[in-house]
Amino acid sequence: MIGVLVSGTGTNLQTLLDAELPVRAVASNKADAPALARASHLPNASFELADYASRAERDTAMADWLQAQGVELVVLAGYMHILTPAFLERFPARVVNVHPSLLPEFPGAHAVADQLAAGAAEAGVTVHLVDEDVDTGPILLQERVPVQAGDTVETLHARIKEVEHRLLPAAVEELLCAH
Ligand code: GRF
Repeated sequence: MIGVLVSGTGTNLQTLLDAELPVRAVASNKADAPALARASHLPNASFELADYASRAERDTAMADWLQAQGVELVVLAGYMHILTPAFLERFPARVVNVHPSLLPEFPGAHAVADQLAAGAAEAGVTVHLVDEDVDTGPILLQERVPVQAGDTVETLHARIKEVEHRLLPAAVEELLCAH
């Protein structure tokens, strides 16, 4: 059973739902994340940092809730907080992230803008297992996305997302089969 963590619009979550992967629960660090509305038919919950004494306590509560829903594999689909060991230790080698660059190039929260600012000829998508550092961890799938003349953050991100929407469900399906 899959649990998905979201912070934003949730288009990657939508592709997992459309692919009929066994998404069992959706959680967010933001109560008003538009992505949560896509999961209104599923168990869903928000875990705002402000409601907890520490990030580790928030992550423990989120892991408790996901495991109570039967979640064994966690997918970060535009989840914009760093997960602490308190969370990762609960799902060893079972947390997957999708990132909009060819990692290890351009980690971090502004990867699309950073690639444009650096004049990169190609951007890309990486699906990887999450470890305790930011945007590191074993790479599962990766694909290049050429940068076009005149690209803005919006146009480049839109083309990157098209690739994300193909790669993320494929990687998740593979992980489920391999287990
Ligand atoms: C994606 O580009 C993902 O790579 C990045 O945040 C974006 C989330 O988009 N980490 P969405 O919320 O799935 O539409």
